[in-house]
Amino acid sequence: MKVLVLHGPNLNLLGQRQPELYGTKTLDQINEEIELLGSQLGLDVDFFQSNQEGMLIDRIHQARGVYQWLVFNPAAFTHYSYALRDALQAADIPTIEVHLSNIQAREEFRSRSVLAPVCVGQVSGFGITSYLLALYAIFERGRLGEA
Ligand code: DQA
Repeated sequence: MKVLVLHGPNLNLLGQRQPELYGTKTLDQINEEIELLGSQLGLDVDFFQSNQEGMLIDRIHQARGVYQWLVFNPAAFTHYSYALRDALQAADIPTIEVHLSNIQAREEFRSRSVLAPVCVGQVSGFGITSYLLALYAIFERGRLGEA
């Protein structure tokens, strides 16, 4: 099973950016944790980060026919990018939306995701574990024959 993990804008600064909210691990360290669990679960995981909406859209288009699942932290695009929502719908690859912080417990504008309605589900608020829970969900759905 091939899984593409997408990280949106400003996540390249993890480790330095608001560590009280997002933790002290860098994006590379987070990706290592995801990769490790992926290999234990038999998932073949690739990664892509961009600060640009169009780059993320292009990567989602290219994922068609290659990846069976997307794990996506769209960062601030979560809250307003109808272009990314359309890209996910067009690509038609099951997607899990992930957030390090609990987006329901922060500013009002963060409580709304325009992408969640086209995702299989959302994991929010568990730090790096949010990504790991998404991998477990993919693994379990495969094991249960649900995807
Ligand atoms: C985030 C939450 C978003 O609201 C924010 O814009 C981010 C990170 C998270 O992982 O908690 O950049 O997606």
